[in-house]
Amino acid sequence: MKRKLLGALLSTAMVASLVVGCGGKEAAPADTPAETEAPAETEAPADDAADDTAAPAATGGGKIGISMPTQSLERWNRDGAYLDEQFKAAGFETILTFSDDKTDQQVNDIQNMLADGVDMLVIAAIDGNALNTALEGAAEKNIPVISYDRLILNDAASYYVSFDNYTVGKLQGEYIVKALDLENAGDKTYNIEITAGDPADNNATYFYQGAIDAIQPYLDNGALNVVSGQKDFDAVATPGWKTDTALARAQNVLSSYYADGTQLDAWLCSNDSTALGVTQAVTSDYAGSNTVIITGQDGDEANLKNIVDGTQTMTVYKNVSNESIVTLALAKAILAGETIDESLIPSFGIECAFDTESYETSAGNKCPSFLLVPNVITKDNLQDLVDTGLYTMGDDGYLSATK
Ligand code: BGC
Repeated sequence: MKRKLLGALLSTAMVASLVVGCGGKEAAPADTPAETEAPAETEAPADDAADDTAAPAATGGGKIGISMPTQSLERWNRDGAYLDEQFKAAGFETILTFSDDKTDQQVNDIQNMLADGVDMLVIAAIDGNALNTALEGAAEKNIPVISYDRLILNDAASYYVSFDNYTVGKLQGEYIVKALDLENAGDKTYNIEITAGDPADNNATYFYQGAIDAIQPYLDNGALNVVSGQKDFDAVATPGWKTDTALARAQNVLSSYYADGTQLDAWLCSNDSTALGVTQAVTSDYAGSNTVIITGQDGDEANLKNIVDGTQTMTVYKNVSNESIVTLALAKAILAGETIDESLIPSFGIECAFDTESYETSAGNKCPSFLLVPNVITKDNLQDLVDTGLYTMGDDGYLSATK
């Protein structure tokens, strides 16, 4: 039957591709059937054409498990919707789950997908270290795993698709440097506070480090001062990226260090959910009258509204529709047993880099990564978001996401 043939070819293709994934194992031998044979659907005998149990022919075929962390943080709803739409349009069956930010639930969701016979997993991990049981299940069945947006630190993950996370942080830090004109600060000292992301999310330290590297020269020369003294990642991290947690810490910092009228100039926030809490605290609890520069990341609707209103200053936008397009193209290449390297990039039609150095599993193996390019959005270029076709602007000037 066609499904059987497809399954056999997919498994072979998966073995071929898996061995060059994050585990850093050797490449498959050149004569691996999956590398020389045509894609399954063109191999199917003509008399199978009417078989209604056959996998969808189209350009894809097969079942994809899409595991997203939570629906409570805006972007993952968009990611889930785009991924689901992309894979379905390419002829795949999909299973889409959100795991309510609970690692046990995510393990369970992935195990159910494996039991359901998925041919590939696309996973945005809640905790990059907590999926070993599920990933071992995938490895036993030779199911390729794409770490989506957040790196899974287990060697059974195959490839990584994300944005350049270090650059996200760097853009935030550089924005502050420019907005405060720190190069020309002279003897003046500007005050800053920092809020970072979830320690369980491998991305969080990349965002933090990119931003810190951009502002470090000015912390060193005294143009910037962290008044609370809370600067190390552990001191400024926000478990679960929770708005309420960021709000509570920001209120605490403001009442402990700024209630005497000390001026706060900037608050470096790693993303929009944390910026939302910080903005709320600054709006209600900050005694000064200056505008505090607040950074973010994602282009969440509430934050874009704050940007229009002037209470948040910028966000680093990551086009997650493009991220899903790259993921689909990579998935198809893996399933077809193609060589996975930078030669695939032109077929994506989306600017990105192939990076084999920056991301490591916990065993210290490099994970081959496709990294897309993030952009700064401020009040002055909101139209760029509308131009993507993924946002509309209402008569009030506020933006709404189309998904
Ligand atoms: C994503 C960010 C997001 C954060 C919280 C990170 O892994 O890369 O875009 O803001 O998670 O959801």
